[in-house]
Amino acid sequence: MKLLKSAAELTLLVNKEKGNGLSVGFVPTMGALHEGHISLIENSRRENSLTICSIFINPTQFNNPDDFKKYPKTIEKDIDMLEKWGCDVLFLPEVDEIYHPGIELKHYNLGYLETLLEGEYRPGHFQGVCQVVDRLLEIVIPDKLYIGQKDYQQCMVITKLVELKKYDCKIIICPTLREPDGLAMSSRNLRLNPEQRKLAVHIYETMLMVKIELSKSEIGHIKQKAVNKLSNAGFRVDYVEISAASSLKPIITWDGHEKVVVLVAAYLDDIRLIDNMVLEK
Ligand code: PAJ
Repeated sequence: MKLLKSAAELTLLVNKEKGNGLSVGFVPTMGALHEGHISLIENSRRENSLTICSIFINPTQFNNPDDFKKYPKTIEKDIDMLEKWGCDVLFLPEVDEIYHPGIELKHYNLGYLETLLEGEYRPGHFQGVCQVVDRLLEIVIPDKLYIGQKDYQQCMVITKLVELKKYDCKIIICPTLREPDGLAMSSRNLRLNPEQRKLAVHIYETMLMVKIELSKSEIGHIKQKAVNKLSNAGFRVDYVEISAASSLKPIITWDGHEKVVVLVAAYLDDIRLIDNMVLEK
């Protein structure tokens, strides 16, 4: 695996590969890699001749400085995993390589997408995601971009960004990988102590409960029951929402057919976990 820190060098390499007719798959990450990340690498490897992964803990997407400071870092292990799983190039930039000092950060017109759910509870977060992904796409120029459904709203935001900026890049949304008990794999899980780790499974169980209740009970009632279940287990809940899967707009009643998604964001101590599940009839 080639390890590059320079954006210019990476762009040069990509242009050479593309000039030879090879396709480039890209997996952007913030490191502390787990099997969920690796599944994106595997998908990219299957569909492209060159797979590039980036590891960059993007400061502009953290609305909470403490969360940024405490974000897990396991770079040696990450490099070993990427080597083992056959990633071709790791892009490991310093902050100045992504955000040129003195250059003003861009603003993206994301519309209602950044005013609800994560957008509401993490002001500025999606602007930060767009700033870094836009810059990474500029540098990597991939044919295909691999992102995880685990971050459902982020997938919609990145899709919007690619449309806004007219990138010639196909977005591949990959399914959420879970631990055997159902907890979605996440870098932040590394911060859970053993007791919190056991409690964390309640998020998955709550989403399953919503799935079962959806055709039986009223939406408001289901959401309240879900919040109560999580609160009783020791979570501080930001939201449990049931939304149209296509728009992410909350639904008030379910017609029995529309594809919906249940989305959860909740804290154990200061560790914020998010998850979602698409519910189909
Ligand atoms: P990070 O949280 O490191 O996630 C990198 C990619 O892995 C994202 O597309 C995310 O949705 C995906 N992912 C995370 N957990 C997953 C799981 N359990 N199963 C499948 N895919 C999973 O998301 C980010 O980084 C950043 O916001 C980023 C897009 C890199 C911009 O900084």
